[in-house]
Amino acid sequence: MNIAEDIRTILTFYRTLGFERLPLKFSSKFEVQSSKAKEDEHSGANPSIVTRCSSEDKKAAIEELRREIGDCDRCRLSEGRKNIVFGEGNPDARLMFIGEAPGREEDIQARPFVGDAGKLLTRLIEKMGLSREEVYIGNIVKCRPPQNRDPEEDEMATCSVFIDRQIRIISPKIIVSLGRISSQTLMSTKVPISKLRGRFFEYKDIPVMPTFHPAYLLRNPKDKWLVWEDVQKVMERLKESGEQI
Ligand code: URA
Repeated sequence: MNIAEDIRTILTFYRTLGFERLPLKFSSKFEVQSSKAKEDEHSGANPSIVTRCSSEDKKAAIEELRREIGDCDRCRLSEGRKNIVFGEGNPDARLMFIGEAPGREEDIQARPFVGDAGKLLTRLIEKMGLSREEVYIGNIVKCRPPQNRDPEEDEMATCSVFIDRQIRIISPKIIVSLGRISSQTLMSTKVPISKLRGRFFEYKDIPVMPTFHPAYLLRNPKDKWLVWEDVQKVMERLKESGEQI
């Protein structure tokens, strides 16, 4: 193991994640990958290689991504937003929740899932025995669509590259996709959420559990038990893999 090799590995890590510039701070604890992982990385075959990085590396990579997004005007949603809602939580989370787009309250506070639907999501996370700080919460698009309309295809295409980068950096063990838009986007399908929910799919080798959006549950509280069933499968799978959340 020599320094040049370590530096090359670190540079490759950031390039694989799509960075054009380097974060200023590095952890000295960067774990050098096996030659198999390196082959996978070069071929783009194995996004989970990022799990080999320390939580400080992931934190630095997430912070650098936020800097890269800047005061984004890559799509028309920038025109009506107050704040970009980048996402929040543990950069080394085992579990990631992905919603659709910020609403009114999220736009004001620049934080995901803090309105009424967000409060329900927070309660669900706590019922799972976790806290918001332990998981990571993001959205397919980072700016509030006007009047909370659905994000349009071109807006999602422009913005979803960033949630993809967040997923690759955090490299969670499981993703819970909240609602139709998030689930259909991650799964590249138009199958209705009622048919997708409750079964694991994969996004770049990471298991994804689609479930109903908390805003839907506010309108249809009788379906809460279905979401509870879905997240229990998530907890079981994490336990089976011996993963501490
Ligand atoms: N709905 C979402 O999909 N995301 C949020 O952040 C808030 C509400």
